[in-house]
Amino acid sequence: TRSPIRVAVTGAAGTIGYSMLFRIASGAMLGADVPVRLSLLEIPQALRAAEGVAMELADSAFPLLDGVDITDDPRLAFEGASVALLVGARPRAAGMERKDLLEVNGAIFGPQGRAINDVAADDVRIAVVGNPANTNAAIARAHAPDVPASRFTALTRLDHNRALAQLAIRAGAPVGRVRNVTIWGNHSATQYPDIFHADVAGAPGAELARDEAWLTEQFIPTVAQRGSAIIEARGTSSAASAANATIDHVRDWVLGTPEGTWTSVALPSPGSYGVPEGLVSSFPVVSRGGEWELVEGLEHGELSRRRIAASVAELEEERAAVEALGLLPG
Ligand code: NAI
Repeated sequence: TRSPIRVAVTGAAGTIGYSMLFRIASGAMLGADVPVRLSLLEIPQALRAAEGVAMELADSAFPLLDGVDITDDPRLAFEGASVALLVGARPRAAGMERKDLLEVNGAIFGPQGRAINDVAADDVRIAVVGNPANTNAAIARAHAPDVPASRFTALTRLDHNRALAQLAIRAGAPVGRVRNVTIWGNHSATQYPDIFHADVAGAPGAELARDEAWLTEQFIPTVAQRGSAIIEARGTSSAASAANATIDHVRDWVLGTPEGTWTSVALPSPGSYGVPEGLVSSFPVVSRGGEWELVEGLEHGELSRRRIAASVAELEEERAAVEALGLLPG
């Protein structure tokens, strides 16, 4: 039998954690024959709630679940972890300035990055979900000089899946027949969901994009503002779909993307598509042999160039702000 893979989840007692942990333990993320050991990181006030989640995990009698550890110490949580899902973050409180938000999250993601650097498994793969996800990933990475930069990713798969869903509705086709959309830039309102290279039930996305009013006034804002629409409808933020996207992200990373299909991941730019090197920005990627490979050579028209540049500019502003706070050492 295989030895269990250690999966660390931060913010494990939160709503995304609650939607995610049971599916990880069931084998949905790493495969139906791979045992997992879960490591739950929480803040002290939420440890009791995390214990409750662990009770329910036990009560689910998952044959693949080797055990659950709970701690408020990142150095224990990430010990031996091959997958680190950084979900816990501080939400923006009323009246909080952006600088304050970046600062409190820097205080979370800096030490977590350092702990990952020091105690995680050599093959550790990190997915940052907690917002501002791209910049939090950049902060964690800056504190982990011994971990290859390409192991630090931020989640834009939820935006990617939302784009697939909206295209399927537009085309009246099942979502399984839509592929190769791309989310570019930041996981924020400036993100650019690009359909120009998509395959929409056998038709080129560029054909749908000819209806520019639909593209810019309906499709793009619907995808970019879907999170707010869900808060408005549900009274609380998207959690199950975010958990699902995180599982998709890691599964594709470890097991590979289907032939002929790419997905979207925010990762430190290798300098492609004019995105400054090191900036954690979303790109089209395939996964081969457990590594993300950028899909290079996609041509961009004026609209795409402008939209990508705007989102990248926002990321550069966030980077400048955290740099000024001393959160990007090295
Ligand atoms: P939540 O508030 O229900 O749970 C967050 C949990 O994180 C809480 O249990 C809290 O105690 C914990 N936490 C806070 N600081 C921590 C620390 N330093 N270490 C460990 N745990 C800590 O929030 P929810 O709904 O689970 O969302 C989590 C994050 O995911 C938020 O930042 C949210 O904005 C983000 N998000 C990102 C999405 C994406 O697509 N990238 C989609 C949806 C949400």
